Amino acid sequence: MKIFRPNTYFSLITLCVSMILFLSFFQPTVHANNLSEKSSLTRATSPGIGTQNLLEEIPPLAPEEPHRKVAFITGVTRGIGRAVAELFLENGIHVIGVARDAVALQAFYTNNLLKNSISRRRGELKTIVADLSTDAGQDSVALAVARYLGENGKLDLVLLNAGVIKPLGPKAIFTASADEIRRCLRTNLESAVVLTGALYPFYNKKNEGTRIMYVSSIAGERPGGGTAFYSTTKAGLDQWVRAMLKDAPGGDKVSFAGVNPGNVETDIHSKDLRGEDPLNFPRATFFNQMKGKLMSAEKAAEYIVWLLNTAPKEEFLKYPKHNIYNSEQQKLWSTEPVLDPYPATQTIPVSKSSALRSP
Ligand SMILES: NC(=O)c1ccc[n+]([C@@H]2O[C@H](COP(=O)([O-])OP(=O)(O)OC[C@H]3O[C@@H](n4cnc5c(N)ncnc54)[C@H](OP(=O)(O)O)[C@@H]3O)[C@@H](O)[C@H]2O)c1
Repeated sequence: MKIFRPNTYFSLITLCVSMILFLSFFQPTVHANNLSEKSSLTRATSPGIGTQNLLEEIPPLAPEEPHRKVAFITGVTRGIGRAVAELFLENGIHVIGVARDAVALQAFYTNNLLKNSISRRRGELKTIVADLSTDAGQDSVALAVARYLGENGKLDLVLLNAGVIKPLGPKAIFTASADEIRRCLRTNLESAVVLTGALYPFYNKKNEGTRIMYVSSIAGERPGGGTAFYSTTKAGLDQWVRAMLKDAPGGDKVSFAGVNPGNVETDIHSKDLRGEDPLNFPRATFFNQMKGKLMSAEKAAEYIVWLLNTAPKEEFLKYPKHNIYNSEQQKLWSTEPVLDPYPATQTIPVSKSSALRSP
């Protein structure tokens, strides 16, 4: 019998890791700009998403395992979207993730490939580089999803999560540039509305159907101060869900809900809200005082993954907008209570509480 010495094992592991890193360099990420040129060509000859020629270029998600669920998530490079993607992958669910930062997507892909080599149960990650505040970015997504799903793949879980909070500050209402305003409205609201329809061909209209969730905020119901654009987009998402619940195109096989994920320690808090000059955004002081009191992105992800993947359909459809601080529902998914760090502000009228509102 041949015995491997420890240094032989070490060399083998190093070789495997190097191979994975080398292969990951050729990650078949779909870039919005390349795709939009081709997509207009394809559309001219074949309306809809009949992309036979393009499907050959990029290998679809493991077609030999059709029983695996597939999730689509926007905003997977950081924060809540990244934590949800990690949890799905850990649970063996494939993820197609969208964001702008190609380097961060590449790192996430490589990291998942490494973890995948240890556990074959993990889901596969596919990425799409797209700026969802642009026409090209929004238009490229459906075609990229078609490539990744292959001929028969379907999306089971959809999380429209990408979001930005800027422009910030009371004066921004009149001083923000049209570009800054559009970036917020288009990323947070327009892209979610456009993608709902653009992805319709890929919804699972059989068996368990597709669950679609929109990441909203308390700001959609109760504007704080200095977040007028952000609050407007979240109110828009809330109304979009309520309107769709009347008109849902796929009947009960395609179900919709919004979610308030709570106050979560992500870049929105650490960089944007705390980092803004208090002279421009007075609530920056309050948000700095709240440092250390917010929940982790992993906790918010636990809730969202439960709602999308585990909760019974009746529970998913119970509220047009779920709320992580719903103590009754917490009994179903969390082992410990999840408390609102701003509880006193929940009952104060908007005019008096504007200095204390969450994003
Ligand atoms: N954190 C909270 O306390 C809180 C509370 C309520 C609601 N929310 C909501 O939760 C969602 C996620 O926020 P987060 O706190 O996790 O923020 P985050 O850490 O800043 O993450 C935002 C994600 O969105 C992506 N994104 C931003 N602009 C994009 C664009 N134009 N095109 C494509 N992707 C874009 C970012 O990726 P790239 O930069 O790589 O593009 C990133 O992955 C947002 O909708 C936010 O409004 C957060």
